[in-house]
Amino acid sequence: MASKSALITGITGQDGSYLAESLLSKGYNVYGLVRRLSSPNISNIEPIRHSVEILDGDLIDQSSLNQAVLQSQPDEVYNLAAQSFVGTSFKQPALTGEITALGTLRLLEAVRSHAPHARFYQASSSEMFGQVGEEPQDETTGFHPRSPYGVAKVYAYWACINHREAYSMFVSNGILFNHESPRRGLEFVTRKISHGVAQIAQGKADHLVLGNLNAKRDWGYAPEYVDLMWRILQHPTAEDFVGATGESHTVREFVEEAFKVAGVADWEEYVTSDERFRRPAEVYNLRGNASKAQRLLGWSPTTRFRSLVRIMVKAEMEQTSGK
Ligand code: NAP
Ligand code: GDD
Repeated sequence: MASKSALITGITGQDGSYLAESLLSKGYNVYGLVRRLSSPNISNIEPIRHSVEILDGDLIDQSSLNQAVLQSQPDEVYNLAAQSFVGTSFKQPALTGEITALGTLRLLEAVRSHAPHARFYQASSSEMFGQVGEEPQDETTGFHPRSPYGVAKVYAYWACINHREAYSMFVSNGILFNHESPRRGLEFVTRKISHGVAQIAQGKADHLVLGNLNAKRDWGYAPEYVDLMWRILQHPTAEDFVGATGESHTVREFVEEAFKVAGVADWEEYVTSDERFRRPAEVYNLRGNASKAQRLLGWSPTTRFRSLVRIMVKAEMEQTSGK
């Protein structure tokens, strides 16, 4: 049987790079959409760059998406590209809407025109739940987004469902809670902490400035979540699934654990909280219920909070000591 083809948008990001590795190991032909930057950002895909086909394109540009779909003739499309940082979405709300909301619609339209039988995965987010009215959150929980990013993801979510209903396309949303790894961007809180702690432990920094230490998140390990994306597209019907660990912890707990792993006592002496890193509207508490994914897809994450912190801090200590 011929190998399947997959088109991944956002292949240079945390999830895109892990997903590409996973699909290559399953024998897929992998195509990755990459936008032009003045200085290319390909460190996450450096080890596999000769095994994947890079296609130029941008979620803002319809013709580049049409071309990418035509060229890759995908069996599966994973739409992971986004302006994904909530903090920036408050400063660049219209750009976030262009990329994260309308970009998804453009890609859906490209697929509808040029590969209508492809299966489409949308990277939906627990940020859509926002100001939560119930805990834990699952596929039936209502949305109350609290940032331009969350609003854009709600638009994209409904655009996907509309394409499924209006055109009978196979389009599924993975509503994933936070998932982290050593490949996380430096501005996200877990990586900011693991990086900062490693710097402090090695005498290269003497403080770490954060925002709201009381926010709670359901943090999992990214490689396990890209496996869920693939499972969602192998399911016989197009449906939406939550991906989460079911456990939530505060940013403060993450800091405490990270300092412990790095062997630095008295974390309060190094960490301060500053308005600069607080958001105009905050999502205080997210905790997911992934029992549908467990029941129908056999998916359950195994990396728990303390192991995740350990993986991230250890990786950072190794990297920092090499510099
Ligand atoms: P990430 O590391 O920030 O990666 C985002 C990717 O999108 C990068 O490859 C980036 O390319 C690309 N991109 C940004 N703007 C683009 C544009 N205009 N055209 C084409 N590509 C563009 O994000 P991630 O953590 O891997 O997350 C993957 C997806 O899942 C995102 O949609 C995110 O919103 C969603 N999500 C993430 C989580 C999580 O906890 N990680 C949870 C739920 C949902 P450059 O390298 O050029 O910047
Ligand atoms: N980034 C950041 N920096 N966040 C901080 C800081 C800080 O210095 N201090 C406290 N926080 C708090 C934020 O206010 C938020 O409540 C929490 O830490 C997590 O922030 P991020 O790591 O930036 O992630 P996020 O939860 O806002 O968004 C991530 O997860 C979503 C899924 O729920 C992103 O990956 C989104 O793309 C994703 O959809």
